[in-house]
Amino acid sequence: MSLAEKLSGKFLTFEGIEGSGKTTQVQLFQEYLTRQAVPFVLTREPGGTAFGREVRKILLDQHGPERAPVAELLLYLADRYQHLREVIEPSLKSGLCVLADRYHDATVAYQGYGRGIELSFIEELWRVLGFRDPDLTVVVDLPPERALQRARSRNSAIGMDAAGRFEAEDLEFHRRVSDGYRKLSRRYPGRVKLIEGAGSAEEVHSKVVRVVEAHFS
Ligand code: TYD
Repeated sequence: MSLAEKLSGKFLTFEGIEGSGKTTQVQLFQEYLTRQAVPFVLTREPGGTAFGREVRKILLDQHGPERAPVAELLLYLADRYQHLREVIEPSLKSGLCVLADRYHDATVAYQGYGRGIELSFIEELWRVLGFRDPDLTVVVDLPPERALQRARSRNSAIGMDAAGRFEAEDLEFHRRVSDGYRKLSRRYPGRVKLIEGAGSAEEVHSKVVRVVEAHFS
């Protein structure tokens, strides 16, 4: 069976803290799928739909008004609900592979482990809203100290100050998020695969490809 056949109708998500190299890996993986002639759509959260892009502006506005953690959680879920119905589900149904830069594990890691919202509450909402699990989730794992350093130098290189709401958060927050992703990989070992993010982008990419190929073989 070709890779295109194996990945037809499959939902892949990429996760990781800021500066982990996730976005670079999504980019390299997208190029890999193109080379392998796998029909796919690349999307992201928050902001995978027109509605979601409006929600994203509110969520990521560093100077935006105060919001309670649960209010913020509900916005991420509103973005996801629309995204599933408008992009993810129809694409999977038509046989495309869906590649998403972040999805629900980010909510568990950031709003759950990071902000301290009860995991059982997030899980209950997930169930009631009828969300689906990805077929495979790749977590690019890099120690928060190194990831934050990378994120900060990248932001100053492109002329942003400390940048982004989350990148301005303290190290403790990023530690909790990073631990959250590790816990998710232990809880769902069949679906959530942790990939060591140290090393060159190409080295990490090779590991990603090996994990994906093994998962769908
Ligand atoms: P983005 O600019 O896309 O950053 P990155 O390149 O790191 O993905 O911003 C997305 C931010 O939203 C990121 O800080 C993580 C956060 N987020 C949550 O807190 N919960 C969620 O459910 C999702 C999808 C993202």
